[in-house]
Amino acid sequence: MLRRHPILTVFLSVITLLVGFSWWALHDGVVVLPGGTAVDFSMALQVLSGDEVAPLAEAELKDRMQLPEGFDIEIWATGIPNARLMAVTDTGDLLVSSPREGKVFLLARGADGTATGADVLLEGLDRPHGLALHDGWLYIGEGSGVSRIRFAASKRATSGVPEKIVSGLAEGGNHWSKTVHVGPDNRLYVALGSSCNVCEETETRAAMLRYELDGSNGITYATGLRNAVDFAWQPQTGVLYATDNGRDLLGDDDPPCELNAVVEGGFYGWPYVNGAGHPDPDFGGLAPDKAASAIDPTHEFPAHTAPLGIAFYDGEAFPQRYRGAAFVALHGSWNRSTKAGFEVVAVHFQADGSTSQEPFLTGFEVDEQVSGRPVGVAVGPAGELFVSDDYTGSIYRIVHGEFEGSGAALMATTSQTPDTVNLTPAERERALVSGENLWTQNGCAACHVDGEADAAPNILVELDARYDAASLSQFLLVPQPPMPLYPFSAEERTALAVYLLAEF
Ligand code: HEC
Repeated sequence: MLRRHPILTVFLSVITLLVGFSWWALHDGVVVLPGGTAVDFSMALQVLSGDEVAPLAEAELKDRMQLPEGFDIEIWATGIPNARLMAVTDTGDLLVSSPREGKVFLLARGADGTATGADVLLEGLDRPHGLALHDGWLYIGEGSGVSRIRFAASKRATSGVPEKIVSGLAEGGNHWSKTVHVGPDNRLYVALGSSCNVCEETETRAAMLRYELDGSNGITYATGLRNAVDFAWQPQTGVLYATDNGRDLLGDDDPPCELNAVVEGGFYGWPYVNGAGHPDPDFGGLAPDKAASAIDPTHEFPAHTAPLGIAFYDGEAFPQRYRGAAFVALHGSWNRSTKAGFEVVAVHFQADGSTSQEPFLTGFEVDEQVSGRPVGVAVGPAGELFVSDDYTGSIYRIVHGEFEGSGAALMATTSQTPDTVNLTPAERERALVSGENLWTQNGCAACHVDGEADAAPNILVELDARYDAASLSQFLLVPQPPMPLYPFSAEERTALAVYLLAEF
């Protein structure tokens, strides 16, 4: 049952009438926002839950997930909370980042290819996201910079402490993640997204940056990339391709998400141009020269599908037609009337420069029911494809051929639940007051209640079914993009969590 303050209920009903969406539709889990954007917040609710949704059982997985003829899938490991990007070590283990836990996990690979152990390799990091291994170093994209630490793949161990080699990058905002890779030119590339849905930035972001391996001599390599969550170099050509997520609030089918061939000095359109040369309805007229210089995407993905991870297939185990193709994880839409994305696709590059896209792994979403959200893709040492899922905290392994035996997934127990919050009645009263002030001062209602221009759906319902004060406080420390990041103290987060749980 929904528990709401009576005044809030009246307030929400009035808002409901004013903006004209059906209150009853809300109970089916779908809200239609003014302008026709429909939001299924039942999914958003699960996605954002502090407690991860359980992964599919093996039989269900085989039943639900679809692959081209001749491929097979297993859950390789699970229990990796908020699993985001991966890196394969020289000995075939998998490193996985967990921004919300502040950790990098090491999943050990046994001789037969199964996962044999999960360890916390690093913890206490600042929202670790991108991971890159190069020349005995592990590079980690964190909240405001990049750190690196010595990593010995054969020992499955780091030595020393992480050294900040890049600091002072723009932090927070709607797209706070930092992705790192080392290029074939032995330089460090860093991608960071925009602070907003659509705006003119005052800081360097919505960009790709390039540094020497020690973090020196940084340059802005490319701009106009709204949120390039991952990138990779095509082995045959050396061309650098980056995924990019298109803006929200232009309806269900606009604008496309993108794959861009990124060149030094290139400008890729945002916020003035969407897709191939379409002026943005809000910002399109503001900078005609800049808009004219925008480079078209190489490939367009359907709107709101949210392409995140990319990996070129350089293994030998898959059929010939996949050699040189890119696998891209489409994380899936959160604000579209019917869901789109929720799959891994193969992008094929033709000799004439054109591209085509075909489904590879589908079934994360069936009849609007979501059972996973793919994030990272990586080619393993036996030519298999690994896919991470931040919805269930799982890593899938896809092979050409068939898995034999039980294929029992490794159940990691590396996660610790956040400390519980114990307050005296007097402290709780104070937290409620201070939480309400924080809610007001930070304009949370603009997205969550008022239905203003930049509105997100009012998804703050039944919070106590999925969160306690501790896990909600943890969510506020590392919110799910595009929820912006706020620099709250631990005390402020607790106060807000107590207030939110009482109010929603
Ligand atoms: C710019 C718009 C915006 C603002 C401002 C904003 N949020 Fe959010 N918030 C979102 C979006 C979008 C999501 C859902 C993200 C998704 O589903 O991918 C979200 C999700 C959440 C959730 C998770 C809900 C759940 O059911 O799991 C909480 C809690 C939350 N916001 C609290 C706050 C608080 C507290 C503030 C103010 C300090 C705030 N938000 C400000 C956009 C916003």
